[in-house]
Amino acid sequence: MSEISRRSFIKMSAALGAAGSIVPLGSALGKTGSEKMMKDNPIAISTWKHGVPANDAAWKVLSSGGSALDAVEQGVRVPEGDPEVTSVGYGGYPDEDCRVTLDACIMGPDGTTGSVAFVEGYKHPISIARKVMEETDHDMIVGEGAEEFARKHGFKKVDLLTEKARSGWLKWKAKMSDDDDWLPRKENHDTIGMLALDAKGQLAGACTTSGLAFKIHGRVGDSPIIGAGMYVDNEVGAVAATGRGEAVIRVCGSFLVVELMRQGMSPQEACREALERIVEKHGGKTDFQVGFVALSRGGEHGAMSLVKGFEYALAVDGRNELFKAEYIIE
Ligand code: GLY
Repeated sequence: MSEISRRSFIKMSAALGAAGSIVPLGSALGKTGSEKMMKDNPIAISTWKHGVPANDAAWKVLSSGGSALDAVEQGVRVPEGDPEVTSVGYGGYPDEDCRVTLDACIMGPDGTTGSVAFVEGYKHPISIARKVMEETDHDMIVGEGAEEFARKHGFKKVDLLTEKARSGWLKWKAKMSDDDDWLPRKENHDTIGMLALDAKGQLAGACTTSGLAFKIHGRVGDSPIIGAGMYVDNEVGAVAATGRGEAVIRVCGSFLVVELMRQGMSPQEACREALERIVEKHGGKTDFQVGFVALSRGGEHGAMSLVKGFEYALAVDGRNELFKAEYIIE
C-alpha cells in the first residue's frame, strides 16, 4: 500500500463511527479553502467518498512529477472501474430501459477539451474523452459515433450492467413510485468530478458519470458538458459539479464558479454564489442536491452544496482526507 493509501485508510477508519457514518474530520487543512497553498504543492480534490481512492491514484501521478491532466484521468478511472460505485462507469445504475449509458469530459490547462456522452459498453469514458481531445479537432462525440470511435481506438467493449445495478433497476421498475427509496428524492447523482494542480502550477479537470439512475433513455446531464459539469481556466481556477445535472446546466455551473473566481471571489464564496443562483432560478424551491468543488490556480480550494450530505476528498501534502462540505439550505 502506498504511503498516501495507508494514511487515507487510517484516516477513514478513524473517521467512521460505530454506525459507519462519516463524521467531520477536523484537520490541519482547514474546513474550506481559506488556506493558500504554495503553487508547487500538488493538490487533487474530488467529489464524494469514491474521491478518496480516486485521489490516491491521482496522487501517484502528481507526487512523481506527473501532469494534472494525467492525474485527473488516472484518478477518475478508479471509480469508473469499481462495480460497487453505482453512479459512475462499470456498475452504474442503468436508464429506464435497463441500459447503462455513460458521460464524461476532460479539460487541460491549455483549454483543450474532450467529451463523450450517451456511450454504452465502455468502462472508461474519461479515456475516450481524452482521445477525442488529443486525436480529433472535435470537442464532443456522442452515442453510436462515440462507441465506434472508441472501438477504432482500441477500447474493449464490456457489459457494464452488474447484478447489483440490475437488481436495483428491477426494484425501481417494480414500484416506480415517488415515495420509495429510488425516485426522486434519493436520486443517484454521485458523479465523480476531480480537479488537480500539478507541481508546475498547471490545472486540469475530469468529470464522469452514469448519470441519473433510471433516466429516460438518451438523457444526458451536466457531466460531459464543458462549462456545466466541469471547467478549467488555467489563469483562474477549475471547478467540477455533482448532483442534479439539469439544475447545473441551467446556470452553466462550473463556468459560472470560475467566472466568479475571476471577479475576485474565493473558491468557497464562488461556490456559494453559484448555488444561490440555482436556488433563485428554481423560485427558491429545491428538492434536489447540487455540489461544487473548486480549486484556484494558487491552490485555494472550496466545496459547497445546496443541502446537507455532500462530501469531498482532498489530497495535498501526502494526506488524502474526506470532508463534509458546507451547505446553504437547512
Ligand atoms: N450530475 C450528473 C447528472 O445529472 O447526470
